[in-house]
Amino acid sequence: MHPNLLLGTTIAAAALAYVLRPKKPKTELEAKSVPIPIPPSYLPLQLDSILIYVLSTLAGRDEMEFLRIGLQQFGNTVNFRGFNEDFIIVLDPSSIQHILAKNQPNYEKGPEFQAMFHEFLGSGIFNADGETWKTQRQLARPHFQTSEFKDATLINRHVDQLIKAIDNQLDANPDKALDVQSLFCRFTLDEATEFLFGETVHALEDNDSEFATAFNYAQSIVAWRFRLPLWRYLVPKRRFMKEIKKLDDFVYKIIDSALARLEKQGQGKGEGDEHATLLDHFLNSQEEYSFDRKYLRDMLLNFLLAGRDTTASLLSWTMWHLSQRPDIVAKLKKEVLEVIGPNAIPEYNDIKKLKYQKQVVNEVLRLCPPVPFNIRQSVEEDVLPNGYYIPAGTAVSYSAYTTHRLPELWGEDALVFDPDRWGPERVGMIKPFMFVPFHAGPRICLGQNLAYTTAQVTLTRLLQRYEIRASPGFKPEQTGDIVLFSRNGIEVLLNKESLADV
Ligand code: HEM
Repeated sequence: MHPNLLLGTTIAAAALAYVLRPKKPKTELEAKSVPIPIPPSYLPLQLDSILIYVLSTLAGRDEMEFLRIGLQQFGNTVNFRGFNEDFIIVLDPSSIQHILAKNQPNYEKGPEFQAMFHEFLGSGIFNADGETWKTQRQLARPHFQTSEFKDATLINRHVDQLIKAIDNQLDANPDKALDVQSLFCRFTLDEATEFLFGETVHALEDNDSEFATAFNYAQSIVAWRFRLPLWRYLVPKRRFMKEIKKLDDFVYKIIDSALARLEKQGQGKGEGDEHATLLDHFLNSQEEYSFDRKYLRDMLLNFLLAGRDTTASLLSWTMWHLSQRPDIVAKLKKEVLEVIGPNAIPEYNDIKKLKYQKQVVNEVLRLCPPVPFNIRQSVEEDVLPNGYYIPAGTAVSYSAYTTHRLPELWGEDALVFDPDRWGPERVGMIKPFMFVPFHAGPRICLGQNLAYTTAQVTLTRLLQRYEIRASPGFKPEQTGDIVLFSRNGIEVLLNKESLADV
C-alpha cells in the first residue's frame, strides 16, 4: 500500500474509533441535573454548526451578528456540539457570574486554550492557570496602582503623534475618509510598547514597522486557531514561527539591556521614576521572584496582546458610533469645552470629571465589547445556577457581545446606541454580570483603568480638534476574532475644527 494511503487510512480509522467510542455511564450529578440543549443537527458528527460558521466567514458576513442571532434562537444556555465535542455557551448573568467568580477555580483557561497560544504567549499571565498565573498577577498588580500610572503625559505624547498622522493625511487629501482603525492600532502599539518596555516601535510613523507586521501576523494565526479550535493543526506554521522570532529578537534586546543595567546599578528604575516601565517593575521584584529572560519575554508579550488591540478596538468603534450621531458629538464637545476648554491638554484628574463621555464609552463597550467572546475549560463536572449540567474537561464560553445585546436584560431598545442608559436615573437597572467587557472575578482585566484613561484622553483631544462625520456609504463588517474589529476598517470623515469656534 502507498505510504500516504496507509497514513490516511490509519488517521481515518483512529478518528472513527474516537468518534464512536463507547459513551461513559452517567455520573450521579449528571443524572440529577438537566442536559444542555443541543441544536438539531442534519449532518454526521454535528458538522452543521461548524460548516455554517466557516461558510459565513468565507462569505464575508458580519460574524458577530451571525453568532448573536444564532445563539439567541436557542435560549440562554446551548451546547454547540461539533465533531462529537461539547462546546457550551452561556449567556445569562448568573451563569457568567458562576463561571467567572463564584466557581472560578473550576473554569481554567485549560490545556486546549494554552496550546493555541503557546508559541506566541508562552506561559505569560494571559495564557496561564494556577500558581503560574497567580504569581504574575500579584507581581503586576501594584504597577497598575502606582501614582505615576495615573499620569496622562505618556498618553498625551502619543496622541500628539496620532494627531500629526491624521493631519498629514488630511493635508494630503482633505475630503478622503480616514481608516481610524488602522491609525488606532498603530497608536496603541506605540503607546503600549513604551508603557511596557520603555521603547516605542514608531508604528504611526512607519506603517511597515517590522515589529508591528510580525505582531499582527502572529495574532492573526492564533485568531484562526481560536475560531476553529478543532482545525488548528491545519493553520500554517512556518511563517508564524519566523514572525515570532522577530518579536523575540526585539523584546530580548530590550530585556538584555535592562538586565545589564540592573547588574550595573543593582536595581531597575524606581517606582516613583516617571519613566519606570512594567519591565522595570518586574526587575525590581527580581530578588523575590528570580525569573529568567524567557519568563520576562512571556510577561511583556502577554501584556502587549492584552492591552493593545483591545484599546484600539474601543477607540475605533467609538469613532464609528460618533460618526453616526452628530447629536451625541455635540453633547460631548459641550462637556469638553466646559470641563477642560478648547485647547488645554487633558490630565488624568480632568478626565474623571467627564461624566457624559464616560457614559458614551460604556455604551460603546456594551454594544462593541473589544473581547466579544471568551472561553474557559471546566476542570471538574459542575451544575450551573439554572440547573444545567457541565461535564468535566468541557469548553464553556460566554459572549459579552451577545449578553450585552439581550432584550430581556437591556430592554426592547437593546440594539440602540443610547449613552443615557448609563445616566444617574437608569444606571441602577444595570445589574452585576450583565456588563462584562473587562471580564469579572479574580481574572478581571488589570488594565481597565489604563484603557478608560487612554480612550478618554484620546477622545477628548480628537473632539477638541476635529469635526466627526459619517463617510457616505460606508458600513463596517464585524469579525469574530479574539478582538472585535471591522474587516473593512472603520472609515470616518474628519475636518479640522477648533472647539473654540463651535
Ligand atoms: C478597552 C480595553 C480593554 C478591554 C476591553 C480588556 C478586556 C479584557 C478581558 C475581557 C480580559 C479577560 C481575558 C481572559 O481572561 O480571557 C482581560 C484580561 C487582561 N487584561 Fe485587559 N482589556 C483592555 C485593556 C487592557 C490594557 C490596556 C491592559 C494593560 C496593558 C490590559 C491587561 C490585561 C491583563 C494583564 C489581563 C489578564 C488578567 C488575568 O488573567 O489575570 N487590558 N482584559
